[in-house]
Amino acid sequence: MKLEGKTALVTGTSPNIMGGIAEELARAGANLVCVDIREEYAEKCAAAIIADGHDAIGVACDVTDEEQVVSAIGRANDRYGGVDILVNGAALFNFKGVLNMPLDEWRRQTDIILTGAFLFTKHVAHSMIEQNRKGNIINIISTAGHQGEPGNVGYGTAKGGLLNFTRSVAMELAQYGIRVNSLTPTATGQAEGRERAARWGVEWPRPRLGERAAGLLPDASQGAPLLQLPSPSNYGKAAVFLASDDAEMITGFDLRVDAGAVSRYWIWSPGDA
Ligand SMILES: NC(=O)c1ccc[n+]([C@@H]2O[C@H](COP(=O)([O-])OP(=O)(O)OC[C@H]3O[C@@H](n4cnc5c(N)ncnc54)[C@H](O)[C@@H]3O)[C@@H](O)[C@H]2O)c1
Repeated sequence: MKLEGKTALVTGTSPNIMGGIAEELARAGANLVCVDIREEYAEKCAAAIIADGHDAIGVACDVTDEEQVVSAIGRANDRYGGVDILVNGAALFNFKGVLNMPLDEWRRQTDIILTGAFLFTKHVAHSMIEQNRKGNIINIISTAGHQGEPGNVGYGTAKGGLLNFTRSVAMELAQYGIRVNSLTPTATGQAEGRERAARWGVEWPRPRLGERAAGLLPDASQGAPLLQLPSPSNYGKAAVFLASDDAEMITGFDLRVDAGAVSRYWIWSPGDA
């Protein structure tokens, strides 16, 4: 197995995307540290991985709180000796534009996405360097971090920032043999997440704040060149690749698992072709 003996710490482990990524990393042999501000999501993700025959712990943690971040990494070190793979996925959806976004909500949303990734990256990287561990870090972006989505200003701005955070940190940590990449998901098929929520015994759908802008395709798959939306396990398999030695010469790279969405010529409508 590609990640045998490795330890992966994943943040934002709801039963949707990050839960799917955590389960794929575990299937590839990694021990999992499942981190979420909702204790239920941390614990149920770990329990599902254990039920699947692998090792995992759940840790409740607010990714914007430095003390809690240091403590979560301490739990990982105590249990598994260190962290080899960090996946920063904790995020907050809040569909508001610049004209109606309150300052405190802007700060909270950008804080979770950017400061959360900054804090975990900083402290995990210190721990990897001290242990001479040639680990790797994956930041979860979104196609909204590559393109201008109206009415989603905090999210798109933070995800665009995270894309270049990835490149900057990749250059800084290259000297230690630590690779830093990002993975870009897009609008995601819900069947797998719903099945995972039922299997974990947690609620679905999760709360989403605000309203999407008018003018979005009613069926997002019709805008994807492959005419199908990716599932969380599609992202999970890509994360396994990035985290494995198969990607040993890849750093500072963004792997888009978006059914071709970002590459699409804007006038072309694949669903009408
Ligand atoms: N769902 C999509 O269509 C989509 C598309 C592109 C990218 N993404 C990205 O994929 C990742 C997962 O998305 P998802 O759809 O599974 O979202 P989700 O809302 O189901 O999961 C996000 C998780 O982050 C947790 N979280 C929020 N604030 C936190 C904090 N302060 N500390 C710790 N945990 C916190 C939430 O409790 C939740 O479990 C995110 O980074 C998201 O931006 C999602």
